[in-house]
Amino acid sequence: MAGIKTMDDLFLHTLKDIYYAERQILKSLPKMAKAAQSEELKQGFTMHREQTQQQIERLQQVFEALGKRAQGVTCEAIQGLIEECEELLDDAPEPSPVRDAGLIACGQAIEHYEIARYGTLIAWAKAQDKAEVVKLLEDNLAEEKETDGLLTKMAKSSVNLAAAA
Ligand SMILES: [Fe+2]
Ligand SMILES: [Fe+2]
Repeated sequence: MAGIKTMDDLFLHTLKDIYYAERQILKSLPKMAKAAQSEELKQGFTMHREQTQQQIERLQQVFEALGKRAQGVTCEAIQGLIEECEELLDDAPEPSPVRDAGLIACGQAIEHYEIARYGTLIAWAKAQDKAEVVKLLEDNLAEEKETDGLLTKMAKSSVNLAAAA
């Protein structure tokens, strides 16, 4: 993180981090949808992929509002979370309610990472009275929270299914 001296530098760095993360998530959601056994979970991941596409566009608008070029910076945290998901699919190669429960857990870890990042960026943007940026980031945050809530609901039913199997 060399060259970060001001809050503007830090904001831009964190924005690049979440921009990178969103693009990685966009690539992994179809794999997660394909791996899911439950139709509801499949649809959930597919719907969130569409939202993620829009989120990336909103982030591009944030870069534009700041007069900066949209650019990512490698985010090792999201790489790690996605890797864990891939390991799960290797370790549980057959579709099952148990694998679905694991996929939901991976999805929630990713959503929580995004929620943390957006929460921080919104707080910083508010402190600097960047209303347009706040609005765009809040739209993304709302979708991440909604997705997290849906996954929590599915976690409860998938655990019941797995226990019954
Ligand atoms: Fe996202
Ligand atoms: Fe998300």
